[in-house]
Amino acid sequence: MIFDRKVFGADAFSREMWSEMDAWWMLVDAVKTGCSAFEPHVGFDRYGEPTREPGTLYIATTGILPRRQGRGLGLLMKAWQVAWARSHSYRRIVTNHRAGNRGIIAMNKAFGFRRTGRIKGYYSCPDEDAISMILELKQ
Ligand SMILES: CC(C)(COP(=O)(O)OP(=O)(O)OC[C@H]1O[C@@H](n2cnc3c(N)ncnc32)[C@H](O)[C@@H]1OP(=O)(O)O)[C@@H](O)C(=O)NCCC(=O)NCCS
Repeated sequence: MIFDRKVFGADAFSREMWSEMDAWWMLVDAVKTGCSAFEPHVGFDRYGEPTREPGTLYIATTGILPRRQGRGLGLLMKAWQVAWARSHSYRRIVTNHRAGNRGIIAMNKAFGFRRTGRIKGYYSCPDEDAISMILELKQ
C-alpha cells in the first residue's frame, strides 16, 4: 500500500481491495521497483463491476516507482504479465485505465491490446471515464 501510494497517489487501492488481489513485485537490484496486481478468473461488466469469468485475467494495477519510470521497465513488466497469463493458460487479459493515461494505453496497444469500451465516471478524484482493453491470447 505504501508503494501503491507512491505510484498512484489518490488512485491507490484500499487494504480491502488489495486483500482480493494477487500482487507481484518487480525487484531491481533488490529494490521493490514495480508492482503488478492480478485478479484471477475475473472480468467486468459495462459498469466496471467485477464478474466471474473463467479464463480471464484482470490486471488491476501496473506500476513502476516514479524515479525509475521511462527506462523500459514498464515494457518489461507488461511482457512478463502477458507471459504469466499465457503460461497459466488464460485465454484473455482485461484491464481498465483512466481515459487520460496515454502512457499505459499506448503501451498496451503495443502489446496487441485493443480497446473494448469506455466506462462513464469510473474514476473519482478527479472524475474520469475508464478505457477498457482486452488482449486475446493464443494458447
Ligand atoms: C505506465 C508505466 C507502468 C510505464 O512504465 P515505464 O517504465 O515508465 O515505461 P517504459 O519506460 O517501459 O515505456 C514504455 C512505453 O510506454 C509508453 N509511454 C510511457 N509513458 C508514456 C507517456 N507519458 N505518454 C505516452 N507514452 C508513454 C511509450 O510507448 C513507451 O515506449 P517508448 O520507449 O517507445 O517511448 C509507469 O509510467 C507507471 O507506473 N505510471 C504510473 C502508474 C500508472 O499509470 N499505471 C498504469 C495504470 S494501472
